[in-house]
Amino acid sequence: MLAYNKTKLSADKLPKSLMDLADPSWKGRIGASTGGADFQAIVSAMLALKGEDATQKWLEAAKTNFKSYKDDTPVLAAVNAGEVDAGVLYHYYSFVDQAQTGENSKNVDLHYFKNQDPGAFVSVSGGAVLASSKKQAQAQQFLKFITGKAGQQVLQNGVSFEYTVGSDVPANSKLVPLKDLQAPSVDPAKLNSEKVTELMTKVGLL
Ligand SMILES: [Fe+2]
Repeated sequence: MLAYNKTKLSADKLPKSLMDLADPSWKGRIGASTGGADFQAIVSAMLALKGEDATQKWLEAAKTNFKSYKDDTPVLAAVNAGEVDAGVLYHYYSFVDQAQTGENSKNVDLHYFKNQDPGAFVSVSGGAVLASSKKQAQAQQFLKFITGKAGQQVLQNGVSFEYTVGSDVPANSKLVPLKDLQAPSVDPAKLNSEKVTELMTKVGLL
């Protein structure tokens, strides 16, 4: 997803693909928290979909084109302030800001890449219990709760604006429905975060 400043970019100037942001025309115009987990998850999806060579080339271009921020919220603020034209972010930062004061998103609109693009990757928040846990039963009960109807309804009705995926509970009605995002199919178990870190270090983004 791309959060963009609607006073600086019109809808017809938006990139068709996340891959397009490697173009020199975007130099200095894109913000991202390249050291953050969200950005690295997006890169790991790119790696799974486009392979190592294409991902490394894209990262090299990102090193030149992107302005790096410490966290995702400052990326949203920078987009809103027009410091950059757009930022590579997950959708919820803008929704959360809108539900609060809106001060960091009033000039921001969201661009969903769709079309099975690496930029349309839907990241998964997973839970697990450590084998060493001394509270196995309670931990399992908690996982059962958060993936169950009542837990998913907390996401549906709360202000995190993350998607529900379990127990047939629909997503928060403010969100674009999950099926309309046209996310690429990526097996979360096959994402190679070590390779991502290696490539990002190699190009100087980490
Ligand atoms: Fe995040």
